[in-house]
Amino acid sequence: MVKIAPSLLSADFSRLKEEVQEIEQAGADWLHIDVMDGHFVPNISFGPLVVSAIRPHTSLPFDVHLMIKEPDAYIDAFVKSGADLITVHQETCSHLHRTITHIKDQGIKAGVAINPATSLSAIEPILPDVDLVLLMTVNPGFGGQSFIASVLPKIAELRTKIDNLGLSVEIEVDGGIATGTAKEVVENGATMLVAGSAVFGQKDRKKAIEDIRNDYRL
Ligand code: DX5
Ligand code: ZN
Repeated sequence: MVKIAPSLLSADFSRLKEEVQEIEQAGADWLHIDVMDGHFVPNISFGPLVVSAIRPHTSLPFDVHLMIKEPDAYIDAFVKSGADLITVHQETCSHLHRTITHIKDQGIKAGVAINPATSLSAIEPILPDVDLVLLMTVNPGFGGQSFIASVLPKIAELRTKIDNLGLSVEIEVDGGIATGTAKEVVENGATMLVAGSAVFGQKDRKKAIEDIRNDYRL
């Protein structure tokens, strides 16, 4: 089953409690939380204190996407704040296996992300150790950017590799997902769709989620 993870980055930050409650009611499967440090990406978002503050207001699982340099220093804080899954970028990890093992040792799920220009070969050795691979379909840093279609063959290639290895790793895509692109990514093998502007950016969030589901179902 394909899961939809609306990205908090496109929510109204002045009313986060209501926003997360509304998105749960609207039928989201996960809440995607984009953490940006102004170094790895050219934008700053929020940290573990904000994640802790919204944790009591929803039972949605928290999908924390760390777009930060040296993520190791912050993993424990995000676990404590209520993350159910933490994804780190391969590009930021000097010892990727150590970082992934550390996340899983805290009793939560671990994911690895790569930017559009990073090759799958960079994460192939870690596939048996992760719960999820996040393929960026935009250059990370901002919501509302255009989908980079050249990532589509990479999704298909990853799907084949995961299936050939007999693994049950989720393929998450992030950036520019909306009606139209949702269908393409699911056809190529994605199982978890992040959507910021296409869900939180819309007035009727329930309809927005249904529109995305209808796009890949039809
Ligand atoms: C980009 C973030 C995304 C972003 C997606 O750096 O990782 O999660 O919020 O936003 P949309 O869906 O608007 O492209
Ligand atoms: Zn993200």
